[in-house]
Amino acid sequence: MRTFDCVLVTGGAGFIGSNFIRYLLSREEFQGKVVNLDALTYAGNLESLTDVQAAYGGERYVFIRADICDRAAVEGVFAEHAPDAVVHFAAESHVDRSVIAPADFVRTNVLGTCTVLDAASRAWNGRQAVLFHHVSTDEVYGTLGPTGAFTEETAYDPRSPYSASKAASDHLVMAWHASYDLPVTLSSCSNNYGPYQFPEKLVPLMILNMLENKLLPVYGDGKNIRDWLYVEDHASAVWKIVTEGRIGQKYNVGGGNQWENIRLVRALCAEVANQTGVGASDLEKRITFVKDRPGHDRRYAIDSSKIRKELGWRPSVSLEEGLERTVRWYRENAAWVDHVRTGAYAEWISKNYGER
Ligand code: NAD
Ligand code: DAU
Repeated sequence: MRTFDCVLVTGGAGFIGSNFIRYLLSREEFQGKVVNLDALTYAGNLESLTDVQAAYGGERYVFIRADICDRAAVEGVFAEHAPDAVVHFAAESHVDRSVIAPADFVRTNVLGTCTVLDAASRAWNGRQAVLFHHVSTDEVYGTLGPTGAFTEETAYDPRSPYSASKAASDHLVMAWHASYDLPVTLSSCSNNYGPYQFPEKLVPLMILNMLENKLLPVYGDGKNIRDWLYVEDHASAVWKIVTEGRIGQKYNVGGGNQWENIRLVRALCAEVANQTGVGASDLEKRITFVKDRPGHDRRYAIDSSKIRKELGWRPSVSLEEGLERTVRWYRENAAWVDHVRTGAYAEWISKNYGER
């Protein structure tokens, strides 16, 4: 098992990054420092880490506000903190936004990844007891028909500006391994859900719209399929790969929960009804089929047998349990929701969608 003294987490103020930092600092086997580098875009919020800051701030947790495209800033972090591992989450992550503003995705996801790779490989200068882990997505593989699942050997076929930019970043990571001998690992994960997810994504958007008496917008016929994974299980998978994964390898990570969107929305209606006493059928009446996402991938399914067999990882939270926890979390964290929905996000939504 590899050990590290200082882990640089990019995008640690986002949904998965903040959950990962919390998970990492709670691991007994990790006694090092975490440096969180994040630009605090609309999707990055330090309120997602107030408990981490209070428990570990200063000694074991440091936050640096910087853009991953800012070479001098990224090099400065390597010079000051000398991380021996990078876990790279920072990205523009929302598919709908990528269709509207693709250049932002190319800038951060491609140029930004290149900048962090270059800074790491120059700072490490051939050292091998270091690691660059890249967090990627199943969307790089494209869309599936009614059968089959993505394996690590599935050919890349990205279909949105988001997935194309993530595919490009994956190739850069593998190119740095081949060309500069940079020790890398890569994970391709399915849809995450759980606490601290930005409320533009399906699960929190639906929960909040249910709680706030709004319509529940389901794209197309609602039969697109995603493979859902509770965010802490993604954090544990990433840490498994970082500490035990084979260098130069890619690992697919998925929950084995392949549900049609409409089934998931109905399950959320049932869970919100259960926790609030509102009738599930009253909530379901608010489901509204709306114009489909352009290029909407039909089905994703992840074959995660490689990480399960090689590294012994498996998810620990069932979809039912995860949805129960997630609905509860959003009900109990209205202040966080209010905060993240103001400012840049509110402006973007009213400009591009009107009232949702
Ligand atoms: P998110 O949008 O919630 O968070 C992204 C974070 O990156 C934010 O804190 C943001 O401020 C930061 N960031 C954006 N641009 C930056 C820049 N130029 N410089 C520095 N920081 C910047 O995203 P997420 O859902 O937590 O996803 C994290 C990573 O995991 C992404 O790489 C995404 O592609 C990948 N991923 C996400 C999922 C999912 O279901 N959400 C699934 C598989 C893979
Ligand atoms: O598969 C992994 C990917 O999952 C990650 O790489 C992305 O960063 C992450 O955003 C997520 O992408 P999706 O596009 O699958 O997630 P989203 O929550 O936007 O949508 C999930 C499904 O729900 C998708 O089929 C579109 C649909 N949807 C989404 C929204 C926001 C709706 O029907 N209505 C909505 O309002």
